[in-house]
Amino acid sequence: MPVGGLLPLFSSPAGGSLGGGLGGGLGGGGRKGSGPAALRLTEKFVLLLVFSAFITLCFGAIFFLPDSSKLLSGVLFHSSPALQPAADHKPGPGARAEDAAEGRARRREEGAPGDPAAAVEDNLARIRENHERALREAKETLQKLPEEIQRDILLEKEKVAQDQLRDKAPFRGLPPVDFVPPIGVENREPADAAIREKRAKIKEMMKHAWNNYKGYAWGLNELKPISKEGHSSSLFGNIKGATIVDALDTLFIMEMKNEFEEAKSWIEENLDFNVNAEISVFEVNIRFVGGLLSAYYLSGEEIFRKKAVELGVKLLPAFHTPSGIPWALLNMKSGIGRNWPWASGGSSILAEFGTLHLEFMHLSHLSGNPIFAEKVMNIRTVLNKLEKPQGLYPNYLNPNSGQWGQHHVSVGGLGDSFYEYLLKAWLMSGKTDLEAKKMYFDAVQAIETHLIRKSSSGLTYIAEWKGGLLEHKMGHLTCFAGGMFALGADGAPEGLAQHYLELGAEIARTCHESYNRTFMKLGPEAFRFDGGVEAIATRQNEKYYILRPEVIETYMYMWRLTHDPKYRKWAWEAVEALESHCRVNGGYSGLRDVYLLHESYDDVQQSFFLAETLKYLYLIFSDDDLLPLEHWIFNTEAHLLPILPTDKKEVELKEE
Ligand SMILES: *[C@@H]1O[C@H](CO)[C@@H](O)[C@H](O)[C@H]1NC(C)=O
Repeated sequence: MPVGGLLPLFSSPAGGSLGGGLGGGLGGGGRKGSGPAALRLTEKFVLLLVFSAFITLCFGAIFFLPDSSKLLSGVLFHSSPALQPAADHKPGPGARAEDAAEGRARRREEGAPGDPAAAVEDNLARIRENHERALREAKETLQKLPEEIQRDILLEKEKVAQDQLRDKAPFRGLPPVDFVPPIGVENREPADAAIREKRAKIKEMMKHAWNNYKGYAWGLNELKPISKEGHSSSLFGNIKGATIVDALDTLFIMEMKNEFEEAKSWIEENLDFNVNAEISVFEVNIRFVGGLLSAYYLSGEEIFRKKAVELGVKLLPAFHTPSGIPWALLNMKSGIGRNWPWASGGSSILAEFGTLHLEFMHLSHLSGNPIFAEKVMNIRTVLNKLEKPQGLYPNYLNPNSGQWGQHHVSVGGLGDSFYEYLLKAWLMSGKTDLEAKKMYFDAVQAIETHLIRKSSSGLTYIAEWKGGLLEHKMGHLTCFAGGMFALGADGAPEGLAQHYLELGAEIARTCHESYNRTFMKLGPEAFRFDGGVEAIATRQNEKYYILRPEVIETYMYMWRLTHDPKYRKWAWEAVEALESHCRVNGGYSGLRDVYLLHESYDDVQQSFFLAETLKYLYLIFSDDDLLPLEHWIFNTEAHLLPILPTDKKEVELKEE
């Protein structure tokens, strides 16, 4: 489901393709935050300078140690050697006063007694000189370009990150773990011939998508099915093979054994994380870490565990922020992180840092190292300390201050999978993580009060909340919430189980309407409930469909939990629409406008089409004992994670 709040920003129907440069692809959308990061850094640097001048002065005055000021300014200006005090007395601009001061100091250190009055005068002169030097250095630093200052700061950050990575040496060897054979992967043919046939059709779709990827884009991230060549999204930096890793578990459950083996060999030989380019921590976690973990739990092949943990270690430097809330972007080679330039005041995004929990808990389990779990539990601690406006979680949180950014709330892009992961953290813990359960139901209650509305013709929808004002728009991404409400119904507070199941059904109906009201019978990226329309996209840049899974995901949960045949009917409508409008010779393509009579292709076969859309469709036409929901948690990219074995003590502790 929610493949990140970010995808909408990357995929304009005009531009067509996803990605294309982290900077370049980010335009549009009106989501740009405040000014460039460099300016904010400059301000911080100036503050630091004023502070350092003050400290220099104090040290000089109190300790009579001229060297201490040198030490301090050495620390503060470490990365700009030109500005360092000339410690070795090399003649240079501005070094003379300092030489003189040091000369005096050295004499005293040598034991020359001197009279008290002269000593005081001496010190006053030194303080004055130190003060002047601090001012001079401040002035010189201010003349540096913001880019230079930023580069200096980045260099320092890189150093810190690398030091911290070196501390992680124990990861070189993985402890042996007993592989627990997966439950519910025996793939029986459905008894009903019509259902069997439909399921076989979906497997054929997977073959078509896979074979074309293999033929035209093997080893690259994604396929361009019209151009018949590879497509690379900047979300993955230079990591390759997104489609291969994303498709692994779908190949496995569809019993496409040869394809699974060729995917495994590619991963053994080619999957490399030592890339010198920025990646999206969120996207790499849900697709690559999730895909590898899932493949491991299904097949028991050690290579997947090894690669998953290796990648997890590479992501750890993203957490090196003052609050421990991770950066959105990370250079995996240098370990340097930063946030999206458009995100409110340098904030991290709720749906991104809030969608690491499930995978990181499993990384700790499979590596025997608690560090991954600690990182994500700290995120929860930070969130729990913060005041929530009306009980809602804003989409933006500043990793430096640990405070909220703009008060925008969404169950769609930027917020979505945070809520999903609270519910699934509770389920994945064998229902022992009661904190996650409480956070989930508290959040859902606030969402119902403030965001969920009914249209005049009775369609329930989830609006967006902008500082107290509602925007009556629902994204395709938000459609996953129907399945989430239904999945959580079982654990709902006293008497609310039926209510949440019905709420899930209502969201499913609304999202089906958004599909049915288009010409292509596939839903738009976002649809509105204002200006006299209901469940229809009114803006040109919201009319595209990029093979997204969220509506089908909700059908899958609703089918499993209610067995109402309409969900199979709706799922089949989607299959027919995909076959009529998205299938091309070279694979499956997204559409630029689902209201047009003729297809305008975006020429991208998203990796999540294989990971999610086709997997959920296949499950809808399979028996319930294939991947039973009591035993498996789907991560937000539909990758499979088993319930974590629970520590009995923990259970008892929490139940007391
Ligand atoms: C879907 O749309 C068709 C017209 O295109 C209409 O006849 C049908 O009633 C709609 N179905 C639902 C469930 O709204």
